[in-house]
Amino acid sequence: LGAAAAKQGSALIAVCAACHGITGNSAAAEYPNLAAQRYNYLLKQLEDFRDGARKSTIMSGMAMTIPASANNQNLKEIAAYFSRQPLLPAEVAAGPGMRADATQLKEGQKIYTQGLANDNIPACAACHGLGADGNGPMAIPALALQHQVYLLTQLDQFASGARRNSPGQVMTSIARAMTKPQMQAVAAYLQQL
Ligand code: HEM
Ligand code: HEM
Repeated sequence: LGAAAAKQGSALIAVCAACHGITGNSAAAEYPNLAAQRYNYLLKQLEDFRDGARKSTIMSGMAMTIPASANNQNLKEIAAYFSRQPLLPAEVAAGPGMRADATQLKEGQKIYTQGLANDNIPACAACHGLGADGNGPMAIPALALQHQVYLLTQLDQFASGARRNSPGQVMTSIARAMTKPQMQAVAAYLQQL
């Protein structure tokens, strides 16, 4: 959707802004940035929260507060709005969150770009893109500059089964193959990408 839809969307996000920021650059590292996120991915997540395919104490309720509309128009306008906002570095938006040393960043880069064949971890870049800007048609999220704290929560949730909405459970098997230090390393790499 284009600029006109995004403008409509801006009128629907007053409540969301408290956590995600008016421009989708979130106010704290627990809340994901939505700025510059892929439109198809944002729309899918909002539908998944609304329909219960993705559960979150906060967001399951929030999705219910968005007025129903014909043909999902409200959700589309919100997704259009956030996807068109510029993304700030995670540390500018919400402060430093976690920290990583050079060894961790190097390990994270290796996992992200090449995977770890011996551990059955595929290269994240194969789906999320070398620049971690996601894939629009496939509804694969951008991960670049996302908060390390948030990324880690999601990997934990995929591994535990608390989040099970990735198509074919692809993220579930990947997260289950990863150790905690490997998750921390890749999330650290992504936050500063
Ligand atoms: C996650 C949108 C309100 C806290 C998300 C995601 C979207 C979204 C699209 C998924 C992002 C991703 O997967 O990368 C919205 C919209 C809102 C809203 C459209 C207004 C209707 C809020 C508010 C809060 C909040 C007010 C805080 C009180 C969170 C949290 C998550 C999240 C904690 C991560 C949930 C998880 O761990 O799975 N939101 N949000 N959101 N949002 Fe919101
Ligand atoms: C979602 C990380 C590899 C496909 C996600 C999310 C994270 C993540 C953190 C959630 C993002 C958010 O909530 O905003 C990783 C890491 C990988 C990896 C660290 C490498 C170790 C892959 C691969 C594929 C893939 C190889 C494709 C085969 C997806 C898809 C989603 C997703 C489709 C969206 C799921 C949904 O619809 O909710 N990934 N990923 N990922 N990833 Fe990956």
